Amino acid sequence: MMIPYKHEPFTDFSAEENKKAFQEGLKTVEGYLGEEYPLIIGGERIVTEDKIVSYNPGNKEEVVGRVSKADQKLAEKAMQVADETFKTWKKVKPEIRADILFRAAAIVRRRKHEFSALLVKEAGKPWNEADADTAEAIDFMEYYGREMLAMKDGKKVESRPGEYNRYDYIPLGVGVVISPWNFAFAIMAGTAVAALVTGNTVLLKPASTTPVVAAKFVEVMEEAGLPKGVLNYIPGSGKEVGDYLVDHPRTRFISFTGSREVGTRMYERAAKVHPGQVWLKRVIVEMGGKDTIVVDKEADLELAAQSIVKSAFGFSGQKCSACSRAVVLEEVYDQVLDRVIELTKELSLGETKSPETFMGPVIDQSAFDKIMSYIEIGKEEGRLVAGGEGDSSKGYFIKPTVIADVDPKARIMQEEIFGPVVAISKAKDFDEALDIANNTEYGLTGAVITNNRMNQEKAREDFHVGNLYFNRGCTGAIVGYQPFGGFDMSGTDSKAGGPDYLTLHMQAKTTSEML
Ligand code: NAD
Ligand code: ALA
Repeated sequence: MMIPYKHEPFTDFSAEENKKAFQEGLKTVEGYLGEEYPLIIGGERIVTEDKIVSYNPGNKEEVVGRVSKADQKLAEKAMQVADETFKTWKKVKPEIRADILFRAAAIVRRRKHEFSALLVKEAGKPWNEADADTAEAIDFMEYYGREMLAMKDGKKVESRPGEYNRYDYIPLGVGVVISPWNFAFAIMAGTAVAALVTGNTVLLKPASTTPVVAAKFVEVMEEAGLPKGVLNYIPGSGKEVGDYLVDHPRTRFISFTGSREVGTRMYERAAKVHPGQVWLKRVIVEMGGKDTIVVDKEADLELAAQSIVKSAFGFSGQKCSACSRAVVLEEVYDQVLDRVIELTKELSLGETKSPETFMGPVIDQSAFDKIMSYIEIGKEEGRLVAGGEGDSSKGYFIKPTVIADVDPKARIMQEEIFGPVVAISKAKDFDEALDIANNTEYGLTGAVITNNRMNQEKAREDFHVGNLYFNRGCTGAIVGYQPFGGFDMSGTDSKAGGPDYLTLHMQAKTTSEML
């Protein structure tokens, strides 16, 4: 009997044995730093001259791996393999496809700390954030496997006397999965396995800053029994390989998670029907956020400050869900701001060599430059009250930064910074706070800290975001518990880790038989 889904617990690093186990994981990863990773197309290992060099953003001298790089010719080869393999994979029973996910989850669970340690090295994650990323990858496999089993016989439709009607879901075809670096394991694996378990074949193009964890995941899927050609690993330039595959007439669907700039461009390109194309491409596009925590005047103000700081600076603010704006009612503004400043100044920053380091680096030089330039803009637009400095000599470190008294229309209140910077605005009442929270083009996450039930209910209706939280921070959605996806320019609201997600990778077929 299938054990009911339950999310993977997080590791308690205050326990010495867990700390030791994680250090073992780090040792394992250190044993393979700098290795080479080929492309994997139809099970064949292909080594290219041109390489993506993946390095530790907290220590630029440490090379994590050298990864072969696909060009358009190899992308075409991968497409042909995936197209051919679809003919057989689509016939494999959902039970067998789901079993492969469960086996893969078990393998990753056994190597959990190794995978998390790899995320520490490749993405600069603090231990707890890396642990959560790996747990989420396991959750996606366990959850989507069960979801596939639940829908394998289709959904119920009515039949009239003398008639037998069925409503079944069938796979789509070849899916191009393009993933970001910030949840380098969870989102990469989650988007890939959702596509696979529903009977599609996949071309996986991971982010160029985190290709090694994706290579390790593809190996796990092979070990779990996934046939050759179902999941093809083709890291490469977004522009070169990404555009080619998005435009390709045999691409049946695209599953993208990343920036608004790339996502909207992809959405537009995917709409064009190319010669030889006999379908309209399905597009799942999950993009950025400008997420707000609203603090009411009747609220637990310590909880408010803690929630803002944790949501703003966890993984250096590099989450689409991160709190990059806080809107605080004027009666409690000074008190909340003072506590936010205090808590921010207590945070530790550095290479994430132990679980005590709260914040690591940002991902690369261009992220560092972009964030620092937003801090300069922020100094003009508000009052810098904490942080504001960066150092990219050894790794890309930026101090957690708080900018207070910001106008709700200011750039740092509107544009996604994707770094450890939070802007704080004052509102005269709760209605104005909600108006400010809704005044961006994004609509991903938000939180309200309040003890006023009427205000909470008002926010439930009027705070226009895909994931709204009460009396907690705005990050940390759990697969199967808080399906995740945003409104407006945050994307297509696909709700990853939710009950509707798999249907996006399939098409429904009605059959009607006269009895
Ligand atoms: P990005 O858009 O730069 O890259 C995402 C992926 O797209 C990478 O694999 C990249 O190589 C690829 N790419 C780049 N140009 C391409 C092109 N022209 N054609 C096809 N593919 C191309 O994003 P990123 O920096 O990796 O990730 C950060 C962004 O992702 C932030 O905006 C963040 O908010 C967003 N994000 C959203 C969610 C969500 O669920 N809504 C989750 C995580 C991250
Ligand atoms: N799913 C991630 C979170 O909720 C992005 O923080």
